[in-house]
Amino acid sequence: MPAPATVLTAAATHATVDTGRAAPWGDGARLRCDQTAAWGALRAHYERTGRSFDVREAFAADPGRYQAFSQEAPHVFADLSRNRTDTATEALLLALARECGLEQHRAAMWAGEAVNTTEHRAALHHLLRNPAPSPAQKAQVATDLIANAEQDVQATLHAMLAYAEAVRQDAHITDIVSIGIGGSGLGPAMVVAALQDLWLPQQRVHFVSNVDGMELGSLLRQLRPERTLFLIASKTFTTAETMVNAHAARDWFLAHGGSTQADAALPLARHFAALTTNIAAARDFGITTTFGFWDWVGGRFSLWSAIGLPIAVAVGAEAFRALLAGAHAMDEHFHSAPLERNLPVRLGLLDVWYRNFHGFGSRCIAPYSHGLRRLSAYLQQLEMESNGKGVDWQGRALPYATSPVVWGEPGTNGQHAFFQMIHQGLDVIPVEFIVLRRGGRDLPEQHPRLVANALAQAQALMLGRESACGHRHFSGNRPSTVLLLEQLTPASLGALIALYEHRVFVAGSLWGINSFDQWGVELGKQLASNIEPRLASGDTTGLDAATAGLLQRLGAGIGP
Ligand code: F6P
Repeated sequence: MPAPATVLTAAATHATVDTGRAAPWGDGARLRCDQTAAWGALRAHYERTGRSFDVREAFAADPGRYQAFSQEAPHVFADLSRNRTDTATEALLLALARECGLEQHRAAMWAGEAVNTTEHRAALHHLLRNPAPSPAQKAQVATDLIANAEQDVQATLHAMLAYAEAVRQDAHITDIVSIGIGGSGLGPAMVVAALQDLWLPQQRVHFVSNVDGMELGSLLRQLRPERTLFLIASKTFTTAETMVNAHAARDWFLAHGGSTQADAALPLARHFAALTTNIAAARDFGITTTFGFWDWVGGRFSLWSAIGLPIAVAVGAEAFRALLAGAHAMDEHFHSAPLERNLPVRLGLLDVWYRNFHGFGSRCIAPYSHGLRRLSAYLQQLEMESNGKGVDWQGRALPYATSPVVWGEPGTNGQHAFFQMIHQGLDVIPVEFIVLRRGGRDLPEQHPRLVANALAQAQALMLGRESACGHRHFSGNRPSTVLLLEQLTPASLGALIALYEHRVFVAGSLWGINSFDQWGVELGKQLASNIEPRLASGDTTGLDAATAGLLQRLGAGIGP
C-alpha cells in the first residue's frame, strides 16, 4: 500500500486580491460588446457580405486563403480557412476584442484579480501548469497571493505525484476508483481515456459520477477491498452525488473487512484519499490522506490540480508533468502572441461571429480519435457551464445569445449517426475536426482510413455537390475547422485542453459575462433536496401541479 501522504493544507481563501491596478476588472469603463462601435460595424459587415459569404468563392478569389487562415500554435496546427470569415471580418472582430478590453481582461486574469466577480475569486488555473515563473512574470504578477500560490502549487504537485508513483508501484493495488462529478470527474476521465497507451497493464482506473447506484454498484461487484484505492474528488466535498457515492463506497469497504482503525489489517485511511479544498470535511469523513487545492481553481479548470491525481496514477508522474507542460506552452502562446496570430483568440472570435451574427446555435466536436471519445462531454461542461449565461458582469440581462450548444461524438462514428443533418439539414452547424497525424499503437494500419474520413467530411461540407435530384444535393458552404495534432501525447493533449479553456475565456470576455461561476446549477440541487424526502412520504403539499402529479403517480415509498 502507498504510505499515507502528508496532509496538505489548502491555501486560505483569497476573496479579493490587491494587484495594484487602478480598479478591479469589471469596474470603470468596461464596454459590453453590443455597446462598441465594432459591434455595429460587424452588423453592417454581416449584412453586406457575411450573410451571403461563400467559402468556395473565397478560395477561388484568394489562392493564399489556406495559408492566411492557417495558424500554428504549440502542439496544434489549425486550419481555419473553411470558415465563413475573411480578413475584413477578422479585422472587425479584433477591433471588437480591443474595444471590449480583452487584453486587459486577460492581464487581470493572469495577475490574479478577482475575474470571477460574483464569487470574488481569481481564476489562476494557468499557474498550476507554470513550472517556474520567470522573474519578469513574478514582477508582473506582483502579489503575495501569486508568490505563495506558486510555492503551494509546487509542493502539492510534488506530493501528489510522489503518491501517484507509490500507488503505481504497489502490486497490491489493482483498481483505483475515482468518485467525482462535473469538473471533478469529466476532465480526469477524458484525459485518462485519451492516454490509454500509457496505462499500466496491471492497474485499472475507474470513474464514478452518477448518483444512479447502477454505476458504483456494478463496479463494486468486480472489486476486492484490499486491492482497491478510492479517490474522493470534490472541490467542496459537499456535492450530493459524490457524497452519496463516497459513503456507499465507504460502507462497502467496511462491510468487506475494512476498518476505521488505523492499525487494523485493512484500514480505511490507507484505501481512501481525498482531493479537495475542504480538507476538514474530508477528515470528518475519516480520510487522512488529502491533497488540497485552492478556490482560485474553478471546478471545470481543475484537472491540473490535485483533482488530476487519477491521471497521474494512470499515466505516471512524468506524463502528468508533460500534460502540464503542453498546457503551459499554450498558456504562453495565449498570453503573449499578438491577437491576430493567437489561436484561442481567433477561435473565440469566430464563436462570437457565428453565434451573434450568423445565429448558429450549436457547434459539433468531431475528434477523429477513439482516445478523445470523452472530449465532447468534457467540453460541454467547459463551454456551456462557463458561457451559458444570460446576464453580464453587472447582472444586466443580455440582449444577445451566448454559449452555443456544444456536442459531438468521435469520428467516424458520428458520420453514421448525425452527419446526415450537418450535410443536408437546414441548420448550419460548424464542425471542429480534431485529427492526429499519427495514431495510437493499436492497428496503426487503420489510421490512414480514419484521417481520410476526417478530411473527406470537411471537404464534403465545404464543396457540397450539385444534383438535380434534391435528395442527392449537398448545398456545401458548411463551415468547419481542422485542429491537427502530431500525435495524442500528454503534451499535445494538455495544449489542446488549454486552447479550449482560453477560447472559452475569450468568447465569454467579449460577451461580458462571468465565465467562472455556475449559479445555474443551484436551483435544481435545492429542489432535489426538497423532493427526495417526499418520494418516501408522498407529501405533495405546496408543490406545483405537474410535480405533485408525478409524485402521486410514482406513489409513496420509492426506493430499492
Ligand atoms: O455542476 C456544478 C458543479 O459545481 C461544477 O461546477 C463542479 O465541477 C461540480 O459541481 C462538482 O463540484 P465538486 O468538485 O465541489 O464536487
